[in-house]
Amino acid sequence: MVMTSDYNKKRNDIIKELTTFKKIDYSFSDGHILGSMCSAPHPIAREVYIKFLETNLGDPELFPGTKQIESNLIQFIKELLHAPKNATGQIVSGGTEGNITAMWIAKKLSGKKEIILPQSAHFSFQKIASLMDMKLVSVPLTKQYTLDFTKVNGKITKDTAAVLGIAGSTELGTIDPLPELSDICFDENVFFHVDAAFGGFVIPFLQKLGYDVPEFDFQLKGVSSIAVDSHKMGYSAVSLGTLIIREDKWLDLISVESLYISVKKHAGILGTRSGGPVAAAYAVAKYLGMDGYKKIVENCMNTTRYMQEKLDEIGLTLIIKPTMNVLGVKLSKPDIVAKRLSENGWRVNTMNHLSCIRIVLMPQITKEIIDEFIPILKKTCEEVGEL
Ligand SMILES: Cc1ncc(COP(=O)(O)O)c(C=O)c1O
Repeated sequence: MVMTSDYNKKRNDIIKELTTFKKIDYSFSDGHILGSMCSAPHPIAREVYIKFLETNLGDPELFPGTKQIESNLIQFIKELLHAPKNATGQIVSGGTEGNITAMWIAKKLSGKKEIILPQSAHFSFQKIASLMDMKLVSVPLTKQYTLDFTKVNGKITKDTAAVLGIAGSTELGTIDPLPELSDICFDENVFFHVDAAFGGFVIPFLQKLGYDVPEFDFQLKGVSSIAVDSHKMGYSAVSLGTLIIREDKWLDLISVESLYISVKKHAGILGTRSGGPVAAAYAVAKYLGMDGYKKIVENCMNTTRYMQEKLDEIGLTLIIKPTMNVLGVKLSKPDIVAKRLSENGWRVNTMNHLSCIRIVLMPQITKEIIDEFIPILKKTCEEVGEL
């Protein structure tokens, strides 16, 4: 048995070592990460996560309480997305797994291999093509960086397994013409997946706040599945997403017999998985409720507007008018600007193909942080000849 003093010494040495590494990391809490779609988790998520550290939802009969929390979370997301009664949810690690799982179902349902998707699709679709031997049929974008619906015609063929629409694109937070895509998929009886990994916790509240955004959820009759991430605008801890599918019987298509554990069937990709992020996401959802999320989106849109005004004041312009709390700032040398900002402790993402940097106004970004950032951005841009 380890002596207490031995344990304490070892523990202290290990914590010291890990703290040294942790110090190298950027931190969401100080507001200097401006490019990520994740956030500092809500305080209740931190508290709850640790309590569920030993739970394993891959073996749910051992953890019926945590399994119930998972069902409650799925129910919350179903309500958020106006899912019909027959719908069900699959907890996933995030947008990537949500998209993979949706395309797995679409391939099984149709027996086909082609995915029609906008050029702005997240790179998880490249993984899907490689992993499941599927073919990506890319649709060009409009000048507003949304899928050009006029270019879809003729692309849906006898080989189409699924169509993808994005509700909050990774690059610029744009929303594809989802009602139009829904109609065509319904008429053609094609699986229609909506990637709302980022926008799933934004668009419902933009609608409530009176913003002009299209319908995007299961109220559209052609929508087959929606992926949404609690670890993005759901204000919870990584890694947690939910895939909602219109028909619970579709889950059978991605289920196998699980002989040596207590449940008879096991659906989805993962086996062992922690209940920690699930409990954390549910705690945040319950704590905030729909009204709390609405307030967060309202605040994020206010800081987005503020950032826009400040960028304008220093002479920088945006790629497009933002749909949500994601901004693409036009630059001729985005990589150089991002590198210099990083050297000064600020992180933005670079999108060279659009010649811009991406700034995401997550809940922890305040006007004070923007006031701190703007003079540094201005100085950096002047030094590299952008201004
Ligand atoms: C629209 C969209 N889909 C999918 C993903 C992938 O999500 P994750 O990294 O959580 O797997 C992202 C990530 O930013 C995203 O923006």
